[in-house]
Amino acid sequence: DLIVLAYSGGLDTSCILKWLIQKDYDVVCYMADIGQDENFSAAKKKAMAIGAKDVIVEDLRKEFIVNYMLPALQMGLVYESRYLLGTSVARPCISVGIVNAAKKLGAKYISHGATGKGNDQVRFELSVYSLWPEGKIIAPWRLPEFFNRFQGRSDLLDFAKKENIPVSATPKAPWSTDENIMHISYESGILEDPAEIPPKGIYKMTRDLDQAEDYPCSIDIAFKKGLPVSITIPSGQEKSLLIQDQLKMIETLNKLGGQHGVGRIDIVENRFLGLKSRGLYETPAGTILYTAHLDLEAFTLDREVLRIKRNLQDKMSDFVYNGFWFSPEANYTRKCLELSQESVSGTVTVQIFKGNVLVLARKSPFSLYNKDLVSMDVAGGFSPEDSTGFININAIRLKEYARITNVPK
Ligand code: ARG
Ligand code: SIN
Repeated sequence: DLIVLAYSGGLDTSCILKWLIQKDYDVVCYMADIGQDENFSAAKKKAMAIGAKDVIVEDLRKEFIVNYMLPALQMGLVYESRYLLGTSVARPCISVGIVNAAKKLGAKYISHGATGKGNDQVRFELSVYSLWPEGKIIAPWRLPEFFNRFQGRSDLLDFAKKENIPVSATPKAPWSTDENIMHISYESGILEDPAEIPPKGIYKMTRDLDQAEDYPCSIDIAFKKGLPVSITIPSGQEKSLLIQDQLKMIETLNKLGGQHGVGRIDIVENRFLGLKSRGLYETPAGTILYTAHLDLEAFTLDREVLRIKRNLQDKMSDFVYNGFWFSPEANYTRKCLELSQESVSGTVTVQIFKGNVLVLARKSPFSLYNKDLVSMDVAGGFSPEDSTGFININAIRLKEYARITNVPK
């Protein structure tokens, strides 16, 4: 039987590959390039040497940005107020790629190296079942015959040695990373104690604040219906550079954000399975875009729509974190959220400096901001006397409350 294995090139999936072959499966490895720092040709060679029937490397970077990362930012998705979901949105994207490959090859199974304690197994498998209801999944880390045999890293290393699986010469970092063009996450290993400060030098995309640039950088970000369509960045003296290609845009914002130390978080979060985990994330471009977009929404959205949208985006963030990207509830909520974005067009000027994203100014043809209405210098729109009535009516309740309670005075 033919299996398509989501292959990373690392020790775990290399051992899984060999193990599956020893169980008499034909294995094709699938690698999605979603912007992770990876030597794909070396990984391909390695998998072929281990005995893969074939290795598919697919460049999904544009796909990932256009269909997952930017829509997530357009919807304003952020898990538990802080995490921009860089890993969570990558899983459905990879799932589409691997399911298409499996169907094309006439494979019966899909396999992956996610552990039995994490979110990724859930996201991956729920996505696969949504896209390919008759598909079957083999998750070795949940099979007793696998996890009893490989109880720790040393068992994997022993197996690799015995089976001539090449092991990277550089020692593995004592934590686990997940990387794509949107972010890098760091978890487990020495990071498992939330009271411990992470070692210096762990972050790869962003500089420490004491190494960040000493001069701020201003960026204009243009949005159309909540999606960034161009950025304008300074380039040399008085010159500026307009970037419209989405991939280029993200790469540029990552680079600039990284130089200024933008987009790091160190959090304890709730995994879907019910346990808390500690994670570090760096999301430079995502953080800049999120901040600018938030500002444009405040500027262009009706107050009540904004509040409903807030609730929906929290809901949607949970759906996506929990692996329900392709669910009916996510489809429905996504449409509602997209509808809110009709007027979220305009340009936001931000300044990045020492880890901060500061909004400097914004403009939009759909702005609901009315200078005459709000100005202290102009009478207009309604009479000041109307506000007296407004306050009096609102005070009715408060006076009643004060009558029957001891409101602190
Ligand atoms: N905790 C994060 C999330 O659930 C990151 C997961 C990292 N995944 C990984 N395979 N290292 O989205
Ligand atoms: C894993 O367990 O494979 C990584 C962490 C996660 O999925 O949450």
